[in-house]
Amino acid sequence: MAFYPSHLRSLFTDRERELDLLQQATASLADGRPRHLALFGLRRIGKTLLLLEHAARLLETSPAGPVRPVYVDFEELVTSPELFSRRYVGLVTFWAITQGSGEIESFLTPTGLLGGPAAGLRTVAQTLAALQDARDDPATQVTLALDFPEKLAQELDCRLLLLLDEFTELAVLSNYPSVRRPLQLFRAAMQRHSRLGYVIAASAISAMEKMVQDGRSPLFLQFEQVEVSHFPPDATLALVERILGYTPSPGVGRRLHQLTGGHPFYIHAVTTRLVQRQTFTRASSEIGPDDVSRAFILETLSRTGQIYNYCRYLYDISLQRARGYGILKAILQVLAEEEKLTLSELARRIHKTAPTTRGYLRALQEVDMVVENEGVYFYRDPVLRYWAAYTTRGIEVDAFASRTVLSPLLADLEAQYSRLSTELGLAQESSVRELLRRLAGREVDGALLGTSAPVQLPAFVRVEPYRSPDGQIQVDALAETSEAENEERWAVEVKWRGKAVGKKELAALLQKARSLNARPWYVSRSGFTPAARTYAAAHGVLLSTRADLEKLERQLAES
Ligand SMILES: Nc1ncnc2c1ncn2[C@@H]1O[C@H](COP(=O)(O)OP(=O)(O)OP(=O)(O)O)[C@@H](O)[C@H]1O
Ligand SMILES: [Mg+2]
Repeated sequence: MAFYPSHLRSLFTDRERELDLLQQATASLADGRPRHLALFGLRRIGKTLLLLEHAARLLETSPAGPVRPVYVDFEELVTSPELFSRRYVGLVTFWAITQGSGEIESFLTPTGLLGGPAAGLRTVAQTLAALQDARDDPATQVTLALDFPEKLAQELDCRLLLLLDEFTELAVLSNYPSVRRPLQLFRAAMQRHSRLGYVIAASAISAMEKMVQDGRSPLFLQFEQVEVSHFPPDATLALVERILGYTPSPGVGRRLHQLTGGHPFYIHAVTTRLVQRQTFTRASSEIGPDDVSRAFILETLSRTGQIYNYCRYLYDISLQRARGYGILKAILQVLAEEEKLTLSELARRIHKTAPTTRGYLRALQEVDMVVENEGVYFYRDPVLRYWAAYTTRGIEVDAFASRTVLSPLLADLEAQYSRLSTELGLAQESSVRELLRRLAGREVDGALLGTSAPVQLPAFVRVEPYRSPDGQIQVDALAETSEAENEERWAVEVKWRGKAVGKKELAALLQKARSLNARPWYVSRSGFTPAARTYAAAHGVLLSTRADLEKLERQLAES
């Protein structure tokens, strides 16, 4: 398929849960009950591949089915209202009638469209004429374009699944005063549609959260959230095997997972380098964990590295987008070296007042560089932090650096790698969610959840972070069964810090869980105080420590 080259597709790994959710949404649309999904996930985590894979599977399994996929990347599309409108009409037509294969050129201009493959389509001609009439009215143009897929679906008597990648770019249209509120236009259009299902995705996490989770956004509550997260260890290994073409020693998969945190782009980059290096040196000996570490360092700290170049790009564009370049750079440098700092600590380091510093930090949060958790600020992406810690001090390595040159870096990395993947609060929250998804429906040893009897986990169908519409209640995971299963819910809090969790914190979770009608589960890296354990036993709060989580992971891997 032209839109999804086979060299990319042959490496596609895992994502069964997410594909399942996309399939369910597709089936609902086919039944005339459209549901809309929003995919959330870090940059390069695999959102685009997931959309393409779903489109490909849909076209393969039901080429003549009632639902046709349409993949549109807003990053390339959204410029001026006029161009956006014309190209959106062209792309939707292209996908609806050619199923994403064939020549796209003739779909991108009105003359091409009217004279070419879309010549017989009434709605295309009508919409293009209406766009022409509205040439002095950009808001109307955008609305005409957004309503076009519904009309086309009617004419073709089908339904369209619109996969809108980099959806947050739609906001660019607000730079045109006459359009001003593109999201409002989008929302209004959605209300008029019955033949369309929307799946939106974007790399700008904070911007996306604002769009679909904030009560003030027109798109609030219009989308079900789906988290596209890091790979679990078995998927990491599966991807490595695909790239290498054989199964490496167990230590290799484990080290790769630790260093990359299960991020598929990083896994791909490091493994590809391992392959190249082996070909280059014609080494026939087996790859070991230290080769993985060396490849990681070369990928991240040499200019030939994909990860290096990606980090550089991300760093530059993020800083360009945020205001206050020089100071932001200073903050990022301090955070790269010291990892985790509170607001007042940071303010002191950069010689600014706390309120000023908070403003700068907010700018860094908005571009997804930095996150805050319980008053502590740190990099969202630990690999980016690693890169910045070295490169901002001018440390880079040569692509063919010798073992001697690499050895101090290797030692340093060794001291860091467990931290790189496991110590991050955020990564941890998403791995707890991932764990819950995989444990759904299974029975586990009660001791790992702080109780004596075995615990049967409900067959959860949704596990996502939760925030109440008014923003008052927030939990790291809300796990829910389908309605048919009597709607069982768990509310989960994850704390990943050095101090044991006390009674007060459990009480806070208990209260949230009660108002959500959910069973509370507290996960704490450093365990719980004795008073907290007594309280938990008395109030039915489940408790797990880091060691418990590791055992749960191991049991899953073995089963
Ligand atoms: N499921 C997967 N199987 C194998 N490799 C994957 C998978 N997902 C992602 N990758 C690897 O990560 C790279 C980035 O994936 P993709 O472009 O889909 O991410 P994205 O989330 O859309 O990123 P961006 O934020 O840049 O839009 C891919 O080119 C591939 O190497
Ligand atoms: Mg993408």
